Amino acid sequence: MNKISIAVFPVAGMGTRFLPATKANPKEMLPIVDKPLIQYAVEEAVAAGIKELVFVTSSSKRAIEDHFDKNYELECELERKGKGELLAMVRNIVPADVSCVYVRQAEALGLGHAVLCAKSIVGDNPFAVILADDLMDNTNGGCLNQMVKLYEKTGSSLLGVEQVDPSETFKYGIVSSDPLEERTTQVHGIVEKPQPEDAPSTLAVVGRYILSSAIFGHLEHTGRGAGGEIQLTDAIAALLKDESVMTYEFEGRRYDCGSKLGYLQATVEYALQHPGLGDEFGAYLASRAG
Ligand code: G1P
Repeated sequence: MNKISIAVFPVAGMGTRFLPATKANPKEMLPIVDKPLIQYAVEEAVAAGIKELVFVTSSSKRAIEDHFDKNYELECELERKGKGELLAMVRNIVPADVSCVYVRQAEALGLGHAVLCAKSIVGDNPFAVILADDLMDNTNGGCLNQMVKLYEKTGSSLLGVEQVDPSETFKYGIVSSDPLEERTTQVHGIVEKPQPEDAPSTLAVVGRYILSSAIFGHLEHTGRGAGGEIQLTDAIAALLKDESVMTYEFEGRRYDCGSKLGYLQATVEYALQHPGLGDEFGAYLASRAG
């Protein structure tokens, strides 16, 4: 069985929910305290043993490439000023044995189309997909690390899931499935963003996937679905007719940083845990509550 060493990051989306902040800045570069969302996603992938990061970008996302690239001017300046700790931090954003590849998604045709753009780089390998606006805390090595371990045992395509409120099904891919072992189910159906009355369950796909390369063949034949976009969910629905697809209910907490409320919740929680900031910020919050 192949190891999971490639992760695809679809980052071409426009981030209209955060306008005007995202007019000239990618939504994936919005910081939670002092680190952009995309860096948290990359750190989660690296913690799971990923060695190749494939970013599916668009013309307005140059800042992401710059973030993971060398910045000679900044490094020289930090060196000259003797700021060794900051220098090490900006030099080690991506470990030396991990490589970054960028592919352009020329048209905003949806998540499925974005994943298909990575086909020639991924080839015949099973691979991970990470949506950076779902921020996962690092419980038990992080969500993707937990999924990679399960993949190594089962060899099955996996969807990271959590239970959502019945009123929220229209925001997610929703699965119908049969329970297997603890935290896992065998998927027999999946539908993109159903209204509560049409949803087969309340088990929702979060932005973490491990997929067999057979998904590309299905993506090539997937027409426009929900929202007029080529949906990854629809290709997964086709894949599960030929191959096993399982869900995995991850350990830890997810923050929906695609929404302002989730973004603010993540900001508060990460600020409270921040080594240099947590105590003071906690005291400030307590003073506000009192
Ligand atoms: C995408 C997927 C959806 C999934 C969700 C997780 O939707 O299409 O199936 O449940 O991510 O965050 P988006 O949030 O990009 O609209």
